[in-house]
Amino acid sequence: MNQPLTDPAAIKATVREHYGNAIQAADGCCGPSSSCCGPSNLEITFYGAETIATLPSDMVTTSFGCGNSLALAQLQSGETVLDLGSGGGLEVLLAARQVGTAGFVYGLDMTDAMLETAQRNMQKVGVTNAQFLKGDIEHIPLPDQCVDVIISNCVINLAPDKGQVLSDAFRVLKPGGRLAVSDIVFDGDLSTLPVSEADLRTALSWAHCFAGALTMSQYREILEAAGFTQVNLEVTLRYSSADLQSYNQAEALLAAFPAEAVAALDGKITSCAITARRRA
Ligand SMILES: C[S@@+](CC[C@H](N)C(=O)[O-])C[C@H]1O[C@@H](n2cnc3c(N)ncnc32)[C@H](O)[C@@H]1O
Repeated sequence: MNQPLTDPAAIKATVREHYGNAIQAADGCCGPSSSCCGPSNLEITFYGAETIATLPSDMVTTSFGCGNSLALAQLQSGETVLDLGSGGGLEVLLAARQVGTAGFVYGLDMTDAMLETAQRNMQKVGVTNAQFLKGDIEHIPLPDQCVDVIISNCVINLAPDKGQVLSDAFRVLKPGGRLAVSDIVFDGDLSTLPVSEADLRTALSWAHCFAGALTMSQYREILEAAGFTQVNLEVTLRYSSADLQSYNQAEALLAAFPAEAVAALDGKITSCAITARRRA
């Protein structure tokens, strides 16, 4: 069996390459002579056909998310928002409309191709109250206590040091500020599986958001250690073992597992809606 990916620099390089290629593939299919643009089922499932229909038809709306952190955030007019791992910018641009011109939205991402697509999308939508920043979510390039709300959709699992991400998120939140995250999370104790945690994490793909996922109790502990209160985690979707196999197809690593180990994973990996607050 291979070794699990543990070197932080190697993890970030793998993730950056994966999402750089993914957005270029999506972006590359657009253009005046192409008809392959348009929302995918994911965008419609998460944000609703009506919302997606308000965006320009030639905008690259590719979502790599696992939920709808915007709906969770319940944004108010005038708020300042930060999206950790903003990808192609869909949630930043929708958030910018929700907070209005009295508010402002930052998108933070480390992948150049994602930032370029997000920037083009911003021009297409005509949003002026947003800015895309290049950087690492473990070291947010913003001052202390400057945002009202942090959103993030399917990104924190990709960071090697989740404690550092959530401490830095706490640092930039204003007192009374809130966190609204959608992420991939293991439901339950991994020690009860018929395979070791190290072998499991080796077999799952980091870039597809599974290998680096926390358990629900680890997520809660890390949020509370960072200083957050009112922590809540709710499962919104459970992935079947068939889903895992299809996402891991490229690596074919799960194929090395006994059938009962794959079956034991059925429904254990979830999308979670995670909310927390910084005390006022
Ligand atoms: C699964 S995609 C989600 C993108 C977007 N939130 C969405 O819903 O479509 C993950 C994104 O997070 C970014 N990312 C992953 N790790 C990061 C890190 N440590 N710092 C900054 N961005 C990161 C990737 O470049 C990618 O754009």
